[in-house]
Amino acid sequence: MIKVVVGTQWGDEGKGKIIDYFSKDVDIIARYQGGANAGHTVVVEGKKYIFHLIPSGILHKGKICLIGNGVVVDPVSFFNEISYLKKNKINIEGRLFIAENAHLTFPYHKILDQIEEVQKKGKKIGTTGRGIGVTYVDKFSRIGIRLIDFLEEDVFKEKLKMALEIKNYLLKKYYKEKTIDIDEIYNTYSVYRRKLKNFSKNISLYIYEEIKKGKTILAEGAQGTFLDIDFGTYPYVTASNTISGGVCTGLGVSPKYIEKVIGVSKAYTTRVGMGPFPTEIKGEIGEKIRKAGNEFGATTGRPRRCGWFDSILVKFACKINGIDEIVMTKLDVLTGLRKIKIGIGYKYKGNIYKEYPLNQKIFSNCKVIYETIDGWNEDISKVKSYKELPASTKKYIKRIEEVIETKIFCVSIGNSREQTILL
Ligand code: GDP
Ligand code: IMO
Ligand code: MG
Repeated sequence: MIKVVVGTQWGDEGKGKIIDYFSKDVDIIARYQGGANAGHTVVVEGKKYIFHLIPSGILHKGKICLIGNGVVVDPVSFFNEISYLKKNKINIEGRLFIAENAHLTFPYHKILDQIEEVQKKGKKIGTTGRGIGVTYVDKFSRIGIRLIDFLEEDVFKEKLKMALEIKNYLLKKYYKEKTIDIDEIYNTYSVYRRKLKNFSKNISLYIYEEIKKGKTILAEGAQGTFLDIDFGTYPYVTASNTISGGVCTGLGVSPKYIEKVIGVSKAYTTRVGMGPFPTEIKGEIGEKIRKAGNEFGATTGRPRRCGWFDSILVKFACKINGIDEIVMTKLDVLTGLRKIKIGIGYKYKGNIYKEYPLNQKIFSNCKVIYETIDGWNEDISKVKSYKELPASTKKYIKRIEEVIETKIFCVSIGNSREQTILL
């Protein structure tokens, strides 16, 4: 059966750490969407690993790690991660696979991603520049190149030619930019053909067979609910379905095999890139949280915008993902704040909203209704059980459970495996 871990905010909730923590209990860990825009941090014995494409369970010896068809795979990024793992003596032999029908990201996707951002001028998204949106656009325009196509020399050449005819027309005629040389890409990428062959697999069939044998799977979400292409703060979103529903199409599995959905929420809120963020804190407290939480992007290094916990968002995320239980991360970061605010509603033009409005005119211009509770000063990063937490920390957890209408079963109080408490 499949357990899903999803982000309930705008990404960077600490999914990497949590996936690593729960990987010990499963046989297989699988990414189902996104690409190298993700940056999932895992810290083990003081050593930091940042995964962009490889599932965060890879540090567990013998576990199978899969990259599903819903993921867009940049071969350069993929092999960089493998080199880093090899340097750290992590053996990946025979336990890392990519779906043969996953689409690949090429340099022209990244170039166009960056050009489009400039073209949007004041309306730019603030993408990671990893070519994610453009790779998905090509997939839907039916000019994408899948791993299985790439592995066949003649098919690759033909598909690359067609894609580049379209891209070069755009680059030359519309953007007035340098065009892309087909031979250069073809030759540079030929070296990856041999290397990628060993990783290619019919993943959906494999998962089906493993489920039938009673194996357990952890599906690793990337990004977060409000970056979802359909339910996020459109157009300030990524280009995939980040929600739990994405598991079925992104791995090729039936919904009847999903047995549990776990949501990951930061004890406050962060966002990288542009887009509305009602509970954003501008000024001293925001800076304090950024510093304490080391809130800088794991992929781009950009400072993350910081804000109070927005219960309206997380409550909605729990509903649309079917979240059974929540893991709350980075609770330790709030230590030292005299008062902590929780967003519990929005006000716009005299109306009160207790549910997330999909209408972005409302969401972008609303005022937040806050509840304020007392903070705590005690260092909680070494606490081993829930009962050792200060009374006001417990009160914060309990109040959040009430407003999001979902149980918190685990809290994280630091970046390492040991700093995790099951409630
Ligand atoms: P992801 O994209 O959801 O996997 O999250 P990121 O890895 O991008 O960002 C989370 C950051 O917070 C990483 O630097 C983690 O090492 C760190 N982190 C995770 N959990 C905790 C926690 O409970 N406390 C603190 N202080 N840091 C944490
Ligand atoms: P993880 O998995 C936070 C954001 C970008 C930008 C928007 C679109 O680490 O949580 P894209 O490059 O995807 O076209 O950018 O989405 N974004 C993320 N923000 N965490 C991520 O991943 C993100 N992946 C994309 O900053 O606003
Ligand atoms: Mg991240």
